[in-house]
Amino acid sequence: MNRGLFISCEGLDGAGKSTSIRYVIDGLKRRGFDVVLTREPGGTEVGERIRDLLLHNEMDQTTQALLMYAARAQHVAEVIRPALQAGKCVVCDRFEDSSYAYQGGGNGMDIRQLDTLSHLVLGKGDGRLEPDYTWFFDVTVEVAKARLTATRDMDVFERRGEVYFTRVRDAYLRRIQAHPERFLTVDSTMPREEVAATVEGQLAELFGQPSELERPRA
Ligand code: TYD
Repeated sequence: MNRGLFISCEGLDGAGKSTSIRYVIDGLKRRGFDVVLTREPGGTEVGERIRDLLLHNEMDQTTQALLMYAARAQHVAEVIRPALQAGKCVVCDRFEDSSYAYQGGGNGMDIRQLDTLSHLVLGKGDGRLEPDYTWFFDVTVEVAKARLTATRDMDVFERRGEVYFTRVRDAYLRRIQAHPERFLTVDSTMPREEVAATVEGQLAELFGQPSELERPRA
């Protein structure tokens, strides 16, 4: 079935994901895509309430994983699938790779249990929902930590230590190895302008140059 484009963006807390995702969105819009930006956990009223629980409460790791997937189930049903069916380009600030990285890698949850949740929420076989492309904004754990402590009040996840984040990053790298066709990696330790230029180059390779009409005026 023809459907719109599904893109997710991933990275460690402190990778500069929120800024970098703008480069992806702007580049897609200049190429004529009708972009819907959304995020996980969250993206729906129910999902945002679950997000609040997740980010501000320490909890059992199974509870945490179930809540991540509960928010995702609602998000997929209410926002992502309908938007894709309408031919839109959905850009999701975090999606399932975060669960494999944080709950799987960081918390050490059994991957087969995550696979079970994944099949329940995203389906199996032909009807399965997966991103077409996933940007991974990669920074070392040291850079991530330095950027985080410098900039904000930390939530449950951001308060975790270096060992945890090393496991999260390693789990991301394993996901990339397992799904190389889907991932676009960006070295996000570079200055912003270079991150922007890298993203633009990747978009040009995937979708070509923006047409003159859609290119914004300088
Ligand atoms: P994030 O999206 O980075 O929001 P902000 O930039 O506002 O802090 O934070 C969400 C947190 O949730 C992040 O630390 C990663 C975590 N997370 C998981 O552990 N598993 C998941 O499946 C998802 C989607 C997020």
